[in-house]
Amino acid sequence: MIIRPATHADLPAINAIYNHYVLTSTCTYQEEPETQGEREAWFATHGERHPVTVAEHDGVVIGWGSLSPFRSRGGYRFSVENSVYVEQGRHGQGIGKALMIDLIARATALGYRSIVAGVSADQTASISLHERLGFTRVALFQEVGYKFATWLDVAFLQLMLPPGGLDTAGQSGNT
Ligand SMILES: CC(C)(COP(=O)(O)OP(=O)(O)OC[C@H]1O[C@@H](n2cnc3c(N)ncnc32)[C@H](O)[C@@H]1OP(=O)(O)O)[C@@H](O)C(=O)NCCC(=O)NCCS
Repeated sequence: MIIRPATHADLPAINAIYNHYVLTSTCTYQEEPETQGEREAWFATHGERHPVTVAEHDGVVIGWGSLSPFRSRGGYRFSVENSVYVEQGRHGQGIGKALMIDLIARATALGYRSIVAGVSADQTASISLHERLGFTRVALFQEVGYKFATWLDVAFLQLMLPPGGLDTAGQSGNT
């Protein structure tokens, strides 16, 4: 398995992996499948400072991850929010952990101060994955989510990153 930056050609596979969870899981609160056009627009908002990555095995995309802006106002530019999705049927093989370790390394190299993860509190695998990698729970929002006719709590977990990870141009967070 390799982990590499995603390309436009990966977007159908990324969407197929994701849309399974839209329809079956509370790990995303999206209720309607993401269209290809929406996925392309999402990809266009990412770039060098907000990478999208894929895990590939034998030429097949089996998982993906991303770092997105935590919030849009400029003062939030040193934090990112992560996403990670592994193809159904391939869980428990270390793919999610490998994607996360790679994302943490990228965030550190890009000079971010912290990574935030918003995780539905019923998603024990995701919470355990993040805690395993050093994230700590900083908030629990009660019943801010509603999916499959159930009120859902959302945990926010945060990983503080070591200082000194400025990019080589020394312009961390300014773009
Ligand atoms: C959460 C998810 C990404 C984990 O990926 P994975 O490849 O199955 O996980 P890994 O095999 O890399 O396991 C890494 C760690 O996650 C935790 N974990 C994974 N599956 C778990 C499970 N079923 N129960 C409890 N902990 C689990 C463990 O801490 C594990 O560490 P360990 O192997 O050292 O004990 C995967 O289950 C997934 O894609 N789920 C649906 C999408 C999702 O919830 N994404 C997160 C949104 S923020």
